[in-house]
Amino acid sequence: MSSVLAIKDLIFGYPGQVPVLNAISFNVQRGERVGLIGPNGAGKTTLFLLISGIVSAKAGQIMISGSPVLKGRFNPAVGMVFQHTADQLICPTVCEDIAFGPQNMGLTPEEIAINVDRAAVSTGISPLLDRVPHQLSSGEQRLVALAGIIAMQPELLILDEPTADLDMRYRRRLVGMLKDMMQKSMLIASHDLEFILEVCTRVIVLDQGAIQADGEPPIVMADHHLMEEHGLELPHSLTAAWHRHRSGTECPENAVRGNVSSAAGKTNSA
Ligand SMILES: Nc1ncnc2c1ncn2[C@@H]1O[C@H](COP(=O)(O)OP(=O)(O)O)[C@@H](O)[C@H]1O
Ligand SMILES: [Mg+2]
Repeated sequence: MSSVLAIKDLIFGYPGQVPVLNAISFNVQRGERVGLIGPNGAGKTTLFLLISGIVSAKAGQIMISGSPVLKGRFNPAVGMVFQHTADQLICPTVCEDIAFGPQNMGLTPEEIAINVDRAAVSTGISPLLDRVPHQLSSGEQRLVALAGIIAMQPELLILDEPTADLDMRYRRRLVGMLKDMMQKSMLIASHDLEFILEVCTRVIVLDQGAIQADGEPPIVMADHHLMEEHGLELPHSLTAAWHRHRSGTECPENAVRGNVSSAAGKTNSA
């Protein structure tokens, strides 16, 4: 069975600049929730634009469920929630906005109504369905954009900084919702490292145009030197576990596994 996402030797640079992505290769399998972390400017958003077919690569290949990504071609198999979600909301009401994707996929009115209702319930935005999108708070807009993507039932869900501007209640709802989507493949870029640790089954560290580590979040993200080298820090929960281990009061699995080197974390790299 082919991977949901297969990226091979991907090279991309903006005109007149050094390559942002320099021969990147990795696969995402069905049901994997992959966190993408790295410093500002590492190329996380650029990678998402390439996978969504919004920009085209200089070299290399991106396949979604065995088919190549073509620039500018609507691909319902990929659903991306942008970092700046306001740009993504274009209809006069929230309800119409969520229905927009399913309509473009040619679903029947009954199917569209069911998908809109399910997406609104799972994201918790049912009370907002009659509202005007651009009058919502940025957190509400983010959830509406997410509902619009979920209503299309994409094979690969791409989320760019999904917890930015979410309050604690909506953040918890998002964590639960994503973890419940067992069959869904996801790529999630975030500076919210606790969120990545809680939601993702795998994490990739991207920096200087290359994949610096790829492995289980509690192992990769507990590697103090790796994280610091790439402009990141240990998530607080792993720091606390490590200190408890050092002081001899506890020996949690996370702290022990934190000794594993970044090289060991690279084993999943395709
Ligand atoms: N439209 C653009 N034109 C030129 N350079 C860009 C453009 N978009 C992003 N960049 C540059 O590409 C690099 C990667 O940006 P980006 O993918 O947004 O990184 P990240 O999402 O990891 O913060 C940065 O150095 C950024 O300045
Ligand atoms: Mg970004």
